[in-house]
Amino acid sequence: MPNASVQIQTLDYKAILQNTTQRTDDFLRDFIASREGVPALLKEAIEYSLFGPGKRVRPALALLSAQAVGGSFDDALPAAASLELIHCFSLIHDDLPAMDNDDLRRGRPTNHKVYGDAVAILAGDAMSTLAFELLAEHVSNPGQAVKLSLELARATGPAGMIGGQILDTCYPQLKHVDSQAADLQSLQRIHRLKTGALIRAACRMGGISAGADARHLQMLDELGQAVGLVFQIVDDLLDVTSSDAHLGKKTGKDAHIGKLTYPVLLGVEQTQAELDRQQKLAEEALAQLGPAAEPLSAVVHALARRDK
Ligand code: IPE
Ligand code: IPE
Ligand code: MG
Ligand code: MG
Ligand code: MG
Repeated sequence: MPNASVQIQTLDYKAILQNTTQRTDDFLRDFIASREGVPALLKEAIEYSLFGPGKRVRPALALLSAQAVGGSFDDALPAAASLELIHCFSLIHDDLPAMDNDDLRRGRPTNHKVYGDAVAILAGDAMSTLAFELLAEHVSNPGQAVKLSLELARATGPAGMIGGQILDTCYPQLKHVDSQAADLQSLQRIHRLKTGALIRAACRMGGISAGADARHLQMLDELGQAVGLVFQIVDDLLDVTSSDAHLGKKTGKDAHIGKLTYPVLLGVEQTQAELDRQQKLAEEALAQLGPAAEPLSAVVHALARRDK
């Protein structure tokens, strides 16, 4: 039997992501299967979105961040799985008619198109509580469990992803909310919150799971902040440059519905320059982390160049 705590050695980012995805999915499947008393329809709606063909970027960042500071994947699996639960909940709600009103996600109909708005809302709600149930149940050290829960709650909540989603959602109608102007500062604030917070938390929670000291946690924090912006800048660019069929979600609509995005504000060329700038910050953080961060580095590079 393979030793589950063996660290990943390859620098082929596809092989790395295959490994981190498999480990996360196995963990999540066992966790969901072991929930008792969940109404069948709710379980089905949760599984529909949780086990759809997502890239599993946040779990990969958590597992590889743990490895980067000397820990193992096993240490960080609960963190990785809890992050994907929150991410999938955020996608279900993001697609609802009252938010981005999208019919296509990961190449399939969105959750509310299959199960209806009420079930989709409740499936998202359930996934957000399941994330914390998972941490409380599977992180055996109580101090670690509290630290990870706090990290995830802050990254998800009103000053994190949810805060970013309200700024993003209300921007087209309510540009005055929180004095939002069409400038780089407002744009970065939205992106740091709606997408950056969970990605930053992925890096930090990987580190916390591995018992990282304050210095290493700071390096992972800096990395997470840069990767968070890189990730959403590429998402904005792909909305302009890719297609529904290739991306598996609706493209060409951000500008049309009045969203504040990098290409809308800066144009594609300057957006590319901002992407390069953030990628450089990510490189600097990776360089500080040293050789154990090489698999993490391979994935971070691939994320900046991704076409999906
Ligand atoms: C999409 O996230 C929403 C954003 C925060 C940009 P991903 O691009 O990680 O979506 P999946 O999980 O691969 O479908
Ligand atoms: C989504 O941003 C951010 C969250 C889900 C928190 P977008 O609305 O740009 O993501 P996509 O393009 O629908 O995946
Ligand atoms: Mg959105
Ligand atoms: Mg959206
Ligand atoms: Mg988008």
